[in-house]
Amino acid sequence: MADYVIAIDQGTTSSRAILFDKAGTIVSTGQLEHEQIFPKAGWVEHDPKEIWNNTREVIGQALSKANVTRHDVAAVGITNQRETAVVWDKTTGEPVYNAIVWQDTRTQSIVDELAKDGGVERFKDIVGLPLATYFSGTKIKWILDNVDGAREKAEAGDLLFGTTDTWVLWNLTGGTDGGVHVTDVTNASRTMFMDLETLEWRDDILEVFGVPKSMLPEIKSSSEVYGHAHSSSLLRETPIAGILGDQQAATFGQAAFQKGESKNTYGTGNFLIFNTGEEIVRSKNGLLTTLGYKLGDAKPHYALEGSIAVTGSLIQWLRDNLNLINSAPEVEKLAETVEDNGGVYIVPAFSGLFAPYWRPDARGAIVGLTRYANKGHIARAALEATAFQTREVLDAVNADSGVNLEELKVDGGMVANDALMQFQADVLGVPVIRPKVTETTALGAAYAAGLAVGFWSDLDELSANWAEDKRWEPQMDDTEAQRQLRLWKKAVTKTFDWVD
Ligand code: G3P
Repeated sequence: MADYVIAIDQGTTSSRAILFDKAGTIVSTGQLEHEQIFPKAGWVEHDPKEIWNNTREVIGQALSKANVTRHDVAAVGITNQRETAVVWDKTTGEPVYNAIVWQDTRTQSIVDELAKDGGVERFKDIVGLPLATYFSGTKIKWILDNVDGAREKAEAGDLLFGTTDTWVLWNLTGGTDGGVHVTDVTNASRTMFMDLETLEWRDDILEVFGVPKSMLPEIKSSSEVYGHAHSSSLLRETPIAGILGDQQAATFGQAAFQKGESKNTYGTGNFLIFNTGEEIVRSKNGLLTTLGYKLGDAKPHYALEGSIAVTGSLIQWLRDNLNLINSAPEVEKLAETVEDNGGVYIVPAFSGLFAPYWRPDARGAIVGLTRYANKGHIARAALEATAFQTREVLDAVNADSGVNLEELKVDGGMVANDALMQFQADVLGVPVIRPKVTETTALGAAYAAGLAVGFWSDLDELSANWAEDKRWEPQMDDTEAQRQLRLWKKAVTKTFDWVD
């Protein structure tokens, strides 16, 4: 009997493979970063080949660190950065262009063009999303419109599209030698093409976008056997049995299975997901309606999502573009050299603003500068930006759901930062709770795969694995929290209408 499940987490900055045991404990991890390619302002690309090579390598790292082989692995789960679009030639396996990353804003003119007929909410009732550069649909269209010969090839049925779950799955199951071309409902719900009710591709929307259906993967549930690892893989013959977009995976890994449960993940960006059960709730407050998970033939669970494009990547920007710190964790120390933000606010609208504003015309701003401000204040303002953005998203969730969240479960890299978590509890006015396993994204994908092959028997068994590690109670005086929030909101308005 195999003792482990392996999760592949193909994220925005790195690819990881994590081996979990039955208690949901991490046994070993392999991790490799990939290059962030910025060809022009607002453009963000990844090399799909580098991603696939790294994925193979990190699987090897995780297996060898734990000294196990494929025989010890019951199943593989895949989780991924969502919306990032890869288009490749199905005969050669070669991508026709770099992956266009979810943060990329090059397709704004496509959005504007499509919005002329019916506005940005034109398809929102069907797909749950406004027209925005964020989602994969306009990225696929851009590749077909701009890469030489791509449209002809796509129309001839020679090209395939996938988010990175699909790209990894296709390669892992053999690529040109019989690769499986499939995605799950959560990833499909980020394209603009999937009908939330039928869970099928919408021919009419595909026609408007000019995207041939033959390019698209088959939509499956989040937990079933899609195929087996190819004989050329270290995992050969191991079933690949779970796929969840990374934010939905984190929700699953936090055991937020029931209606009304939620989590907030602090990664490159922040993503708050609120489980709405079997009900499709349409947001009136700038949230997305998305798939939560679907286990095999069972009914799907839906969710409301508050997506914030830039949180952790603002800290990377302080490190890489301003050289203010040498490593991301140093930001906490630098922020602690000052008592407060000194009146400085940073609104990191690098990709416009996502939830709850959806302002593609916004660009980043540092406001409130005086001769007094120093790099400690900048570091502090950068951390606080994460907390303020989360507060605005939480307000939207409360307004849409009609209930006030009484606590917030958190995970992701930045939750190691005590000062940030305390400030988060302060500006939210509710406790913030971190679980013992903060790698909930990978854990969620492992759970989905393990459930499909009987490694875990049911959701109750998974819930029993969840354990609290630390809790931050709000300490800030409410009047002060309100004052800071008011200043933050004022700072946000300074970023609007900044694109010529
Ligand atoms: O929607 C984008 C999201 O899936 C990316 O997540 O953790 O790779 O920043 P992350």
